[in-house]
Formats: sequence, structure tokens, C-alpha cells
Amino acid sequence: MASPAQNERLTRVGPGTPMGELLRRYWHPFAATAEIDELGIKPVKLLGESLVAFRAGDGSYGLIDRQCPHRRADMLFGIIEEDGLRCSYHGWCFATDGKCLEQPFEDTANPKARFRDKIRTKAYRVEEKAGMLWAYMGPDPAPLVPNWEPFTWDNGFRQVVYADVPCNWFQCQENSLDPVHFEWMHRNWTSRLAGDGSYGPKHLELKFDEFEFGHIYRRVREDADKDSQHWTVGSTALWPNAFFLGDHIEWRIPVDDENTLSITWMFHRVPVGQEPYVQQRVPYWKGPVKDAEGNWITSHVLNQDIVAWAGQGVIADRTEEHLGQSDLGIVMLRRSFDENMKAVAEGRDPKGLIRDAERNKCVELPIKHREIFTTSMTLEESWALGKKLAYRFNQPHYPHQVGQPEAVKREFQVAMGMIPADAEHTI
Ligand code: FES
Ligand SMILES: [Fe+2]
Repeated sequence: MASPAQNERLTRVGPGTPMGELLRRYWHPFAATAEIDELGIKPVKLLGESLVAFRAGDGSYGLIDRQCPHRRADMLFGIIEEDGLRCSYHGWCFATDGKCLEQPFEDTANPKARFRDKIRTKAYRVEEKAGMLWAYMGPDPAPLVPNWEPFTWDNGFRQVVYADVPCNWFQCQENSLDPVHFEWMHRNWTSRLAGDGSYGPKHLELKFDEFEFGHIYRRVREDADKDSQHWTVGSTALWPNAFFLGDHIEWRIPVDDENTLSITWMFHRVPVGQEPYVQQRVPYWKGPVKDAEGNWITSHVLNQDIVAWAGQGVIADRTEEHLGQSDLGIVMLRRSFDENMKAVAEGRDPKGLIRDAERNKCVELPIKHREIFTTSMTLEESWALGKKLAYRFNQPHYPHQVGQPEAVKREFQVAMGMIPADAEHTI
């Protein structure tokens, strides 16, 4: 059970809060690169701050205050220029680093005053990696955007999937270190929803470890022993706000105290006959969390998770919970956050920052059955291997979240050699 003060500390992300200051020491993906390339400009709310992301005419990306520093007009209606974004109200123009480049009337009426040199707008650093744009909202020197090992894999079809989750990010991240929910939510509840009375294998033993880039849970279920990679390798709650599963990473991005943006980066290794495969553009899509009648969608794994997270309340009241043995990972995670908030408050670097470019060439993480994603094989071979490992993958349909658009499905199935490029229908 958490105290009210701890609940507050773990969940508030605005500037100046202990958690807000900790999270500002890390890079956060906030959009698919293709989305900003196509839209040119998009409103972005991150860690409680209202911003706009844009792509300037010269191809550089910006993430600046949503309100203009002149008289607070909405920069979302700004004019994209070669070197920045111009407010459409009176024409002040800002570079991606926040510098005011031009104030048309001031520059004309009183050029000697150089008023523009005294004006900056809030601007955060943006970098592109793995088909996503990442923001850094903390103090200098910024660490490097982590080059997680799957980002270095070749011959992959990648996609970026969003969902808007109407609750605080921390209960979403606690789910990343919660193995028992797989048995109940994703197995037993799913079978009940399908009208099937069966139960999946029970969890028998759990172990939680901390490492440089997060926390690992290991499990023994009735259907496997400690030789299984579920025990020897485990699954990773990637510090500070993601769940890492080898072929995909799910970030729980804090929008503000009461909303989370779920971003999944998903990798599918194309079969040997489709190699070499170079993806020109990483597609993106947003899936719904409720159906047309306003009911929560429970058909897909991440949708089920979202139902659990939002069901805990907008900000889960941890003063009313009762933790048991299954929650030792949750306790470990909260303790780590408390330690790292303290480190930042004392001026020390928190956990897991990468500052060494050599190291960042490829940051290895624990990956169960890495060979599935890194070995050339036919689709049939991959399915056979998946069956042996009880891991369902390379299916024609996106299994984790509802709502994949037909265009992305087609692109995927063509890339995977499941349908010819000129096929009339997807499968
Ligand atoms: S409010 Fe933006 S230029 Fe005046
Ligand atoms: Fe889950």
C-alpha cells in the first residue's frame, strides 16, 4: 500500500514535480516521423506541456511552445517556413531551437532595437530514430537517444501504433512488471469472453531483477520449467516507461497527469524470399479504445491492458490497494523510481542514461528467442518455430491492437510475401 504522498510523487509529471524532473532526463518518442512529414505540424502534449511539433522547409524538426510568446496565439495555425515556424497572427518567426528570427513590424519600425534578439520561445530538442521522433525536455547535456538493439535489425517491416489512454501513465508502466496478469487477463479472461471455459497454465514461481536499463521478470508456469527462456531471459520493463518484448516496444508516454499516449514500435522480420527488404517509410496508425457504442474494446492484447489501466481509475488510488507476492515487481519498480527521483533532486544522473556513442551503436537487451527476428527463414519455417516456442507471430493480422488500417495491412502482407503486390484483397 502506498502513502498518499508516494501516490502523488509517482504520478505527477508536470515541470518541477519530482517525477516530472526525472522523466525529463530521458528521450521520449512522441510521434511517427511519417506523421509529422505528412502533416507538417501537429499538436503534442507531453509531460503536461502543450507544444507543437513541426517539420521546417529545410527538413529539420521542431517542438516548440504551443502559444506564441508575442500575444499567445496558437502556433498550430502557424506558417511553415524554410527555417522555422511563423505565427500567423503577426508574423513572428521562430527557429527550431526557439530563437526568434523575425518580427516583421518591429524589424521595420524600429530595426535598431533588435527586439527579436530578446525573445525566445520554449523549444525542445527533437531527434529521429527508428521511424519515430523523440523529444528531450531536460537540462543539458542531453544523453543519446538509445539505439536499442531491435532498431539495428535489418530486413524488417516496422510500424508505429498509437492509442490514447485516458489515465495516468504510471499504472500503465506498472503493468510492464506484472507477469500474472498474462495468465488471467490475456488467457483466462480471453477464453471467457470467447465462451470457452478453459484455463491456461498457472504461474508457479516469479523472480524480479533490476539491471542497468530496467527490471526483468522471470516466471515458471505449469507448462515449462526453468530451462525456458521465460525464466532464463525473462521480459523487461524498460526504464523508465516502456515494456520491451524483443520484436516490439510499448511506451507509456505521459501526456499529462490524467492521459497517456501508448506508442508501440513493432518489428516483423520479412521471410528469406523477400530479402533484402528496405522499408522507405515506417507506417503509423492509431487504434480506438472504445467501439461505436462507447464500450471498451477487449478483443486484442493491448486493448485488454488499456481496459485494466483505465479501470484502475484516472489516477489509481494506491492507498487502497493490497499488494501480495505477485506484486514484488511493482514494489521494486516504485522503489527504483523513488531512488532515481532522489538522485535527480540531488543533482546526480539517474539510471540508464547513455552518453557513450560507441556503446550506443547497439544497446543489447534481454531478448527471448532472438533468432526469430534475426535469422533468415521462410514464413513456414517461422510459423513452425513459433509453434514450437508457443509464440504466435508473423500472422497476417496485427494481433496486439485493434484497428490496423487496410492500407497498412496490405503493405505488411506484401512485404511479408503473404500476398502479391497487385493483389485485389488482403487476407
Ligand atoms: S501572437 Fe504571434 S505574432 Fe503576435
Ligand atoms: Fe498485458
